Amino acid sequence: MTPRKIIIDTDPGQDDAVAILMALASPEAFDILGIVAVAGNVGLKQNAINALKVVELSGRTEIPVYAGCDKPMKRTLVTAEHVHGDTGLNGPDLPEPQLKLQEQHGVDFIIETLRQSIEDNITLCTLGPLTNIATAFEKAPDIVENIEEIIMMGGGYFQGGNITPVAEFNIYVDPHAADIVMRSGVPVTMASLDVTHKVLSTKARIDAFFNVGTKSATAVGEMLAFSERFDLEKYKWQGAPLHDPCVIAYLLQPELFTGRQCNVQVETQSELTMGMTVADYWNITDNPKNVNFLDNVDDIGYFELIKNCLLRLP
Ligand code: BDR
Ligand code: CA
Repeated sequence: MTPRKIIIDTDPGQDDAVAILMALASPEAFDILGIVAVAGNVGLKQNAINALKVVELSGRTEIPVYAGCDKPMKRTLVTAEHVHGDTGLNGPDLPEPQLKLQEQHGVDFIIETLRQSIEDNITLCTLGPLTNIATAFEKAPDIVENIEEIIMMGGGYFQGGNITPVAEFNIYVDPHAADIVMRSGVPVTMASLDVTHKVLSTKARIDAFFNVGTKSATAVGEMLAFSERFDLEKYKWQGAPLHDPCVIAYLLQPELFTGRQCNVQVETQSELTMGMTVADYWNITDNPKNVNFLDNVDDIGYFELIKNCLLRLP
Protein backbone atom coordinates (compact mmCIF):
# COMPACT_ATOMS: atom_id res chain seq x y z
CA MET A 1 0.00 0.00 0.00
CA THR A 2 1.32 3.46 -0.87
CA PRO A 3 1.42 5.64 2.22
CA ARG A 4 -1.27 8.30 2.27
CA LYS A 5 0.09 11.86 1.94
CA ILE A 6 -1.03 13.93 4.89
CA ILE A 7 -0.53 17.38 6.41
CA ILE A 8 -1.21 17.63 10.14
CA ASP A 9 -2.56 20.99 11.34
CA THR A 10 -2.41 21.24 15.11
CA ASP A 11 -2.22 23.19 18.39
CA PRO A 12 -0.40 20.68 20.62
CA GLY A 13 -1.99 20.00 23.21
CA GLN A 14 -1.48 16.63 24.98
CA ASP A 15 -4.16 14.92 22.87
CA ASP A 16 -2.72 16.47 19.70
CA ALA A 17 0.66 15.09 20.76
CA VAL A 18 -0.73 11.56 21.01
CA ALA A 19 -2.29 11.90 17.55
CA ILE A 20 0.96 13.21 16.06
CA LEU A 21 2.97 10.41 17.68
CA MET A 22 0.59 7.81 16.21
CA ALA A 23 1.09 9.26 12.75
CA LEU A 24 4.86 9.48 13.21
CA ALA A 25 4.87 5.82 14.30
CA SER A 26 3.11 4.72 11.10
CA PRO A 27 5.37 5.40 8.09
CA GLU A 28 3.76 2.49 6.23
CA ALA A 29 0.43 4.32 6.38
CA PHE A 30 1.43 7.98 6.21
CA ASP A 31 3.78 10.14 4.23
CA ILE A 32 3.71 13.20 6.53
CA LEU A 33 4.46 16.18 4.29
CA GLY A 34 4.54 18.61 7.20
CA ILE A 35 3.14 19.56 10.56
CA VAL A 36 1.67 23.05 10.82
CA ALA A 37 1.03 24.79 14.14
CA VAL A 38 -1.91 27.12 14.69
CA ALA A 39 -2.95 29.31 17.63
CA GLY A 40 -5.41 27.45 19.86
CA ASN A 41 -4.76 25.63 23.10
CA VAL A 42 -2.01 28.20 23.74
CA GLY A 43 -0.42 30.89 21.57
CA LEU A 44 1.15 30.07 18.21
CA LYS A 45 4.77 30.37 19.33
CA GLN A 46 4.38 27.85 22.15
CA ASN A 47 2.24 25.51 20.04
CA ALA A 48 4.99 25.47 17.41
CA ILE A 49 7.62 24.68 20.07
CA ASN A 50 5.39 21.88 21.34
CA ALA A 51 5.12 20.43 17.82
CA LEU A 52 8.92 20.44 17.55
CA LYS A 53 9.21 18.71 20.94
CA VAL A 54 6.81 15.96 19.87
CA VAL A 55 8.64 15.38 16.61
CA GLU A 56 11.96 15.17 18.48
CA LEU A 57 10.48 12.76 21.00
CA SER A 58 9.55 10.43 18.14
CA GLY A 59 13.01 10.56 16.55
CA ARG A 60 11.42 11.45 13.15
CA THR A 61 13.35 14.71 12.90
CA GLU A 62 13.15 14.72 9.09
CA ILE A 63 9.50 15.85 9.30
CA PRO A 64 9.26 19.64 8.75
CA VAL A 65 7.32 21.78 11.21
CA TYR A 66 5.80 25.14 10.25
CA ALA A 67 4.10 27.96 12.15
CA GLY A 68 0.84 29.22 10.67
CA CYS A 69 -1.67 31.83 11.87
CA ASP A 70 -1.31 33.44 15.28
CA LYS A 71 -4.94 34.47 15.65
CA PRO A 72 -8.40 33.52 14.40
CA MET A 73 -9.73 35.09 11.19
CA LYS A 74 -12.13 37.51 12.88
CA ARG A 75 -12.41 36.85 16.58
CA THR A 76 -10.05 37.36 19.51
CA LEU A 77 -8.03 34.27 20.36
CA VAL A 78 -9.41 32.12 23.18
CA THR A 79 -6.92 29.65 24.71
CA ALA A 80 -7.19 26.63 27.01
CA GLU A 81 -4.36 26.78 29.56
CA HIS A 82 -6.95 25.74 32.13
CA VAL A 83 -7.00 22.31 30.49
CA HIS A 84 -3.54 21.87 28.98
CA GLY A 85 -1.37 23.84 31.45
CA ASP A 86 0.65 27.00 30.87
CA THR A 87 2.84 25.43 28.17
CA GLY A 88 -0.09 23.67 26.49
CA LEU A 89 1.83 20.41 26.92
CA ASN A 90 2.30 20.12 30.68
CA GLY A 91 3.07 16.69 32.13
CA PRO A 92 6.34 15.28 30.83
CA ASP A 93 9.61 17.16 31.14
CA LEU A 94 10.49 17.32 27.45
CA PRO A 95 13.79 19.01 26.50
CA GLU A 96 13.84 22.31 24.62
CA PRO A 97 13.89 21.27 20.96
CA GLN A 98 17.10 21.41 18.91
CA LEU A 99 15.02 21.16 15.77
CA LYS A 100 14.16 24.47 14.11
CA LEU A 101 10.91 25.64 12.58
CA GLN A 102 10.79 26.00 8.80
CA GLU A 103 10.98 29.62 7.73
CA GLN A 104 8.05 29.45 5.32
CA HIS A 105 4.67 30.50 6.76
CA GLY A 106 2.49 27.45 7.43
CA VAL A 107 -0.32 28.74 5.22
CA ASP A 108 2.05 29.23 2.28
CA PHE A 109 3.40 25.72 2.86
CA ILE A 110 -0.15 24.33 2.67
CA ILE A 111 -0.89 26.28 -0.52
CA GLU A 112 2.41 25.40 -2.22
CA THR A 113 2.20 21.72 -1.28
CA LEU A 114 -1.37 21.35 -2.51
CA ARG A 115 -0.59 23.19 -5.74
CA GLN A 116 2.33 20.87 -6.40
CA SER A 117 0.25 17.76 -5.81
CA ILE A 118 -0.45 16.23 -9.18
CA GLU A 119 -2.56 13.28 -8.09
CA ASP A 120 -5.11 15.23 -5.96
CA ASN A 121 -4.43 12.97 -3.06
CA ILE A 122 -3.43 14.99 -0.02
CA THR A 123 -5.42 14.48 3.17
CA LEU A 124 -5.58 17.25 5.77
CA CYS A 125 -5.68 16.07 9.38
CA THR A 126 -6.83 18.93 11.58
CA LEU A 127 -6.50 18.79 15.35
CA GLY A 128 -7.07 22.43 16.24
CA PRO A 129 -8.93 25.55 15.08
CA LEU A 130 -9.26 25.67 11.29
CA THR A 131 -7.64 29.08 10.81
CA ASN A 132 -4.67 27.92 8.70
CA ILE A 133 -6.82 25.82 6.41
CA ALA A 134 -9.50 28.46 5.83
CA THR A 135 -6.88 31.18 5.33
CA ALA A 136 -5.23 28.99 2.69
CA PHE A 137 -8.64 28.45 1.01
CA GLU A 138 -9.25 32.22 0.94
CA LYS A 139 -5.80 33.02 -0.44
CA ALA A 140 -5.80 30.22 -3.01
CA PRO A 141 -9.28 28.87 -3.77
CA ASP A 142 -7.81 26.61 -6.49
CA ILE A 143 -6.16 24.31 -3.90
CA VAL A 144 -9.51 22.97 -2.75
CA GLU A 145 -9.51 20.70 -5.81
CA ASN A 146 -6.30 19.03 -4.69
CA ILE A 147 -7.50 17.84 -1.31
CA GLU A 148 -8.65 14.27 -1.04
CA GLU A 149 -10.40 14.83 2.27
CA ILE A 150 -10.24 16.61 5.60
CA ILE A 151 -10.41 14.56 8.77
CA MET A 152 -11.03 16.92 11.67
CA MET A 153 -11.47 16.85 15.39
CA GLY A 154 -14.06 19.47 16.11
CA GLY A 155 -17.68 20.22 16.83
CA GLY A 156 -20.34 18.32 18.67
CA TYR A 157 -24.08 17.99 18.39
CA PHE A 158 -25.79 15.54 20.73
CA GLN A 159 -23.12 16.04 23.39
CA GLY A 160 -23.32 19.86 23.27
CA GLY A 161 -20.12 21.81 23.78
CA ASN A 162 -17.06 21.88 25.98
CA ILE A 163 -16.09 25.57 25.92
CA THR A 164 -19.65 26.93 25.87
CA PRO A 165 -22.83 24.90 26.48
CA VAL A 166 -23.13 24.34 22.71
CA ALA A 167 -19.67 24.88 21.18
CA GLU A 168 -16.62 22.65 21.03
CA PHE A 169 -13.27 24.42 21.52
CA ASN A 170 -11.68 24.04 18.05
CA ILE A 171 -14.76 25.36 16.26
CA TYR A 172 -15.50 28.05 18.86
CA VAL A 173 -12.00 29.53 18.62
CA ASP A 174 -12.44 30.22 14.90
CA PRO A 175 -16.04 29.63 13.80
CA HIS A 176 -15.56 31.70 10.63
CA ALA A 177 -12.72 29.43 9.56
CA ALA A 178 -14.78 26.33 10.32
CA ASP A 179 -17.65 27.78 8.29
CA ILE A 180 -15.38 28.30 5.27
CA VAL A 181 -14.11 24.73 5.51
CA MET A 182 -17.61 23.23 5.86
CA ARG A 183 -18.80 25.13 2.81
CA SER A 184 -15.70 24.40 0.72
CA GLY A 185 -17.01 21.26 -0.97
CA VAL A 186 -14.06 19.20 0.30
CA PRO A 187 -15.21 15.89 1.81
CA VAL A 188 -15.03 16.28 5.59
CA THR A 189 -15.02 13.56 8.23
CA MET A 190 -15.76 15.00 11.63
CA ALA A 191 -14.70 13.43 14.91
CA SER A 192 -16.82 15.58 17.19
CA LEU A 193 -17.50 15.37 20.92
CA ASP A 194 -20.21 12.85 20.03
CA VAL A 195 -17.49 10.34 19.34
CA THR A 196 -14.58 11.65 21.44
CA HIS A 197 -16.69 11.51 24.60
CA LYS A 198 -16.72 7.74 24.10
CA VAL A 199 -12.93 7.33 24.30
CA LEU A 200 -12.00 7.99 27.91
CA SER A 201 -8.44 7.76 29.17
CA THR A 202 -9.20 5.84 32.37
CA LYS A 203 -6.51 5.19 34.95
CA ALA A 204 -6.09 1.61 33.66
CA ARG A 205 -5.52 2.90 30.13
CA ILE A 206 -3.01 5.50 31.29
CA ASP A 207 -1.22 2.82 33.32
CA ALA A 208 -1.07 0.67 30.18
CA PHE A 209 0.86 3.48 28.44
CA PHE A 210 3.30 3.70 31.36
CA ASN A 211 3.73 -0.08 31.20
CA VAL A 212 4.93 0.07 27.58
CA GLY A 213 8.17 1.35 29.08
CA THR A 214 9.42 3.45 26.15
CA LYS A 215 10.28 7.15 26.35
CA SER A 216 7.39 8.16 24.08
CA ALA A 217 4.77 6.00 25.80
CA THR A 218 5.88 7.21 29.24
CA ALA A 219 5.63 10.82 28.03
CA VAL A 220 2.09 10.07 26.81
CA GLY A 221 1.21 8.61 30.22
CA GLU A 222 2.54 11.77 31.88
CA MET A 223 0.69 14.03 29.44
CA LEU A 224 -2.65 12.33 29.98
CA ALA A 225 -2.21 12.08 33.75
CA PHE A 226 -1.83 15.88 33.69
CA SER A 227 -4.46 16.91 31.16
CA GLU A 228 -7.26 14.75 32.47
CA ARG A 229 -7.57 16.44 35.86
CA PHE A 230 -9.74 19.28 34.50
CA ASP A 231 -12.16 16.97 32.67
CA LEU A 232 -12.39 14.51 35.56
CA GLU A 233 -13.52 17.31 37.81
CA LYS A 234 -15.92 18.65 35.19
CA TYR A 235 -17.59 15.47 33.94
CA LYS A 236 -17.07 13.15 36.93
CA TRP A 237 -16.34 10.34 34.46
CA GLN A 238 -13.81 7.54 34.88
CA GLY A 239 -11.45 9.23 32.42
CA ALA A 240 -11.07 12.29 30.21
CA PRO A 241 -12.01 12.23 26.52
CA LEU A 242 -8.95 11.63 24.32
CA HIS A 243 -10.10 13.73 21.38
CA ASP A 244 -7.52 14.31 18.68
CA PRO A 245 -6.16 10.77 18.18
CA CYS A 246 -9.59 9.93 16.69
CA VAL A 247 -8.41 11.63 13.49
CA ILE A 248 -5.38 9.40 13.03
CA ALA A 249 -7.17 6.31 14.36
CA TYR A 250 -9.92 6.83 11.78
CA LEU A 251 -7.36 6.83 8.97
CA LEU A 252 -5.49 3.82 10.34
CA GLN A 253 -8.53 1.71 11.26
CA PRO A 254 -11.76 3.21 9.93
CA GLU A 255 -13.62 0.05 10.94
CA LEU A 256 -13.32 1.18 14.57
CA PHE A 257 -15.81 3.97 13.80
CA THR A 258 -19.35 4.34 12.52
CA GLY A 259 -20.87 7.49 11.10
CA ARG A 260 -23.32 8.90 8.60
CA GLN A 261 -23.31 11.53 5.88
CA CYS A 262 -25.25 14.61 6.88
CA ASN A 263 -25.31 18.38 6.60
CA VAL A 264 -23.33 20.30 9.19
CA GLN A 265 -23.32 24.09 9.45
CA VAL A 266 -21.46 26.37 11.83
CA GLU A 267 -23.07 29.24 13.74
CA THR A 268 -21.11 32.46 13.22
CA GLN A 269 -23.67 35.13 14.21
CA SER A 270 -25.23 34.55 17.59
CA GLU A 271 -23.03 35.15 20.64
CA LEU A 272 -25.19 32.67 22.57
CA THR A 273 -24.56 29.78 20.18
CA MET A 274 -21.33 30.96 18.50
CA GLY A 275 -19.37 28.05 17.05
CA MET A 276 -22.18 25.52 17.42
CA THR A 277 -22.05 22.81 14.77
CA VAL A 278 -25.64 22.18 13.73
CA ALA A 279 -25.85 18.64 12.37
CA ASP A 280 -28.86 17.56 10.34
CA TYR A 281 -28.32 14.05 11.66
CA TRP A 282 -31.87 12.93 10.84
CA ASN A 283 -31.77 14.45 7.34
CA ILE A 284 -34.66 16.77 8.02
CA THR A 285 -33.54 19.19 5.30
CA ASP A 286 -32.32 18.78 1.73
CA ASN A 287 -29.13 20.66 2.56
CA PRO A 288 -26.03 19.04 1.03
CA LYS A 289 -24.56 16.17 3.04
CA ASN A 290 -21.17 17.79 3.44
CA VAL A 291 -19.87 15.81 6.42
CA ASN A 292 -19.24 12.22 7.40
CA PHE A 293 -20.38 12.66 10.99
CA LEU A 294 -18.77 10.00 13.19
CA ASP A 295 -21.13 8.83 15.90
CA ASN A 296 -19.62 5.74 17.49
CA VAL A 297 -16.28 4.09 18.15
CA ASP A 298 -14.89 0.84 19.49
CA ASP A 299 -13.11 2.36 22.47
CA ILE A 300 -11.21 -0.81 23.39
CA GLY A 301 -9.85 -1.13 19.85
CA TYR A 302 -8.99 2.59 19.87
CA PHE A 303 -6.77 2.42 22.95
CA GLU A 304 -5.21 -0.82 21.70
CA LEU A 305 -4.33 0.92 18.43
CA ILE A 306 -2.75 3.87 20.24
CA LYS A 307 -0.68 1.54 22.39
CA ASN A 308 0.45 -0.47 19.36
CA CYS A 309 1.56 2.72 17.62
CA LEU A 310 3.52 3.86 20.67
CA LEU A 311 5.26 0.47 20.85
CA ARG A 312 6.97 1.32 17.57
CA LEU A 313 8.53 4.57 18.82
CA PRO A 314 11.65 5.08 20.93
C1 BDR B 1 -10.15 19.97 21.30
O1 BDR B 1 -9.76 21.17 21.96
C2 BDR B 1 -8.42 21.08 22.35
O2 BDR B 1 -8.27 21.60 23.63
C3 BDR B 1 -8.01 19.64 22.21
O3 BDR B 1 -6.64 19.55 21.84
C4 BDR B 1 -8.91 19.13 21.11
O4 BDR B 1 -8.37 19.40 19.84
C5 BDR B 1 -11.23 19.29 22.11
O5 BDR B 1 -12.34 20.14 22.21
CA1 CA C 1 -6.07 20.05 19.54
